[in-house]
Parts: sequence; structure tokens; C-alpha cells
Amino acid sequence: MSIRFQAPRGTRDLLPRDAALWAGIEATARSVFAASGYGEIRTPILEETELFAKGVGESSDIVGKEMYSFPDKSGRSLTLRPENTAGVCRAFIENGMSQYPKPVRLFYIGPQFRYEKPQKGRYRQFHQIGAEYFGSRDPEADVEVLAMLFRFVQRLGLERFSIAINTVGDSDSRSAYRTKLVEYLEPRRGDLSEESQRRLETNPLRILDSKSSKDRHVLAGAPSLADSLNAESKWHFNAVCSFLAALKIPFQVEPRLVRGLDYYTHTVFELTSSSLGAQDAFCGGGAYEDLVARLGGPPTYGVGFAVGLERIASLVPESMAKKLIGTGPLRVSAVGSASRRGEDRQIRAQFLVALETLRSKGIHVVERKRLFPGNPFAAAILGDTSDLEVILGDDELATETICIREVSTGEKHVLSYQDALDFIHSKHDKEDG
Ligand code: HAM
Repeated sequence: MSIRFQAPRGTRDLLPRDAALWAGIEATARSVFAASGYGEIRTPILEETELFAKGVGESSDIVGKEMYSFPDKSGRSLTLRPENTAGVCRAFIENGMSQYPKPVRLFYIGPQFRYEKPQKGRYRQFHQIGAEYFGSRDPEADVEVLAMLFRFVQRLGLERFSIAINTVGDSDSRSAYRTKLVEYLEPRRGDLSEESQRRLETNPLRILDSKSSKDRHVLAGAPSLADSLNAESKWHFNAVCSFLAALKIPFQVEPRLVRGLDYYTHTVFELTSSSLGAQDAFCGGGAYEDLVARLGGPPTYGVGFAVGLERIASLVPESMAKKLIGTGPLRVSAVGSASRRGEDRQIRAQFLVALETLRSKGIHVVERKRLFPGNPFAAAILGDTSDLEVILGDDELATETICIREVSTGEKHVLSYQDALDFIHSKHDKEDG
């Protein structure tokens, strides 16, 4: 019996159309982030397990149950990174970037791994585009990051999405609130969902964003996080909100948003779209005031976000996807001389030379051998429309020209390779509107 292999559960292959769309989204990110002075960083996919335990937090779901951790051959525990913020902070410290002029602005693109139950929009290997800003604790830092994210999402033409923001305050405000919340919830423990009863021990703040109706009922009377904020934390959040308003970035304050990673302080945010279904967040982020210090670096305010590529790719409108994929709505098929037989080595060589010349001029062309019976000289210019046809017949091969026929009108243009290139591009631009 033959064995059939499958991609591991929760992983998938990215085929050429999607890979081209992703490349377009990544190129958009690079250009948008460059405008704000962000430089790319690529950290290892493997990190020491301890980094995430310390960084993301023992009480988070990620560290508690979702990590791909294993001992390597020397017995050291390594983990496939479940997110990139901890790794970027590690690299920031290790490479002495804390000595660089502040702020330091970094972005990353790459795979992340979480052992979660796969469902629509949720994978075990998924991909993020993210950015981290280090070094200034002004509210402008949070706003710069949010504004850049908004610009990115707009450039991709996303239509229906919302930006929810909240503050969890600094660590003093956060722990003061934690105490109050536990005091309120403890006597009502029996009314909470099982998950939240567990979280009461490990991470009570997470109970706030529980979707269970039982929990929501109990939480209705809970003390509010906003009331526990100290003056500094309140001032910071109010400034963030007013700057966002000045920039005309639409957002809602969502008092129960706390996010699932332990490192956040001050501003947290999430971008969601109702078109995504249950896994509706395509981006999450926030500030982390204590993380760099907790990982052994000098106290450094950080703020950043990560966009889920799988999720954002599914939100890019079709017209924008076509533009990003690049080859656009243009398909040109090329037909060679029908009068020649495939055994004519000289003509075949000439045909190869013609194709390579077109490619070197930037025309995307593939040979489609034996598209017509007995005719080895058919080729197609990559793309996806049917209104242009390229003919590489005897005359064209002899004169180093190419004949372009407009299928709708039958009109023919015999052009040099360079002129053909210009002609194809002008058609392309016109169809793109
Ligand atoms: P996160 O909210 O855990 O934050 O992930 C960010 C985004 O990654 C999510 O909004 C979602 O779009 C995507 N994502 C997460 N898990 C999966 C999955 N299993 N399958 C598909 N997509 C997924 C972070 O990772 C933080 N490091 C963000 C950050 C950066 N905070 C500050 N700086």
C-alpha cells in the first residue's frame, strides 16, 4: 500500500496565487513602514523556552498550553516562537540596540506557531506582520504605531473593520485592579464558567473579555478597570485618545479589552472584522513598559502590534488583490509558426532566444509547448485576460519582432520587443483603471 502524506494538522500550503497576494501585502507593509522609519529585523524561529515563559507570561494560554517546545539533542529546551515580540526584545537587548539613539523602530514578517485547535482562520503555523517601537513613553509612541497600522490597513483597501482600544494602566494600576476584581469575583466563583474559575487563580484580568454569558452576567456588577487607574495612566490614555481623534483615526474604547498576553501595560488594541467569523481579530497589539527590563535589559517602554497574514489576506477586496498580485487582468497567448515541425532545431533555438529576450525586457512569458498539435512554438504571456494574443511566427522570429493581435478587434501590431513591452504595459494600466 502506498503512503499518502498530508501537511501536519493546522498547517497548509500556500499556492502561487495566494503566495503572490501575500507577497503584495508584505511589499505594502514594507513601503508603509519605511515611511515611518521602521527597519526590518529577522529573529530565529527557535528561541529558548524560558524567553516565552518570562516574556509572554506563565499564566497566558500561549505559554500554558500552546507552545511547541522540545529538548534539542543537548537537552536544552527550545520553542518554536508563538509570537515575535519577546524575540524582538531579546534581540534588542542582545545586540545592544538599547544604546542606539531612541526611539528604535523595528518590523518583522514571518511564521509563528501555536498548538491551538485548528478552525477557520486559526492555524498552528500562521504568519504575522508586526512592528515594535522602543524608547519613548510619550503617548505619541502608541499613536505613531496605531497610525502606521491604520495607514497599512487603508492602503490594502480594507473596508469594514473596527479598532477597539483600552488601557490596562501601568503595573501599579493593574495590580490594584487585580486585587479588587478578585475580591469581587471570589464570592461569586460558583457562577463563573469553568475556564474563568481557572483564570481566577492564574490571570483574573482575562475573565473580563470572556464571551461566556454566565461570566458576562457576573461581570455586569464588577468594579471597572478605569476606576483603578492612577493619574499617570489616565493621563496617558486620554492623550492617546485625543491624538487619535486629531488624526481622524476611528476607534472605540472597549473597557473590557485586556488581551491574552501578560506583558501589556497602558494602551492595548485589537482590529476586528465581522467578515472573519469566530476568529474575528486580524491584529492585536499594545504597549509593554516592563518587558525589556523583565528580560534583562534596561527599563524601556515598548509598543507594537502584529497583524495575522492569513486573516488580513482574506479581507483584501478582490480589486485590490488583483492589483497586488501584479500580473493583473492581462493574458496574452503567443502562437508560433504552424508551418514548422518541432524537429527543426534551428527554429526551436530561435524561439527560445525570442522568449528569453522578451523575459529580459520584463515581459512575463511561458512557453506552452504543443498548445496546437505539431506546433512547438506556442507561448503565453503570464497574466489573466484574453484580449491580447502574441504571435511568434516565422516572420517575427526572422525580424526579431513580435506580433500582437487584439482579439476583440482582430487588429494586429508588429512591434520590436521594447515597443511590445510598452504596448502590453499601456494595455495593462488601462485595464487597471
Ligand atoms: P496576538 O493577538 O496573539 O498578539 O496575535 C496577533 C494576531 O495574530 C491576531 O490578531 C491574529 O490575527 C493572528 N493570530 C494569532 N494566533 C493565530 C492563529 N492561531 N492562527 C491565525 N492567526 C493567528 C501577538 O502576537 C503580539 N505579539 C502582538 C504585539 C506586538 N503586541 C505588541 N507588539
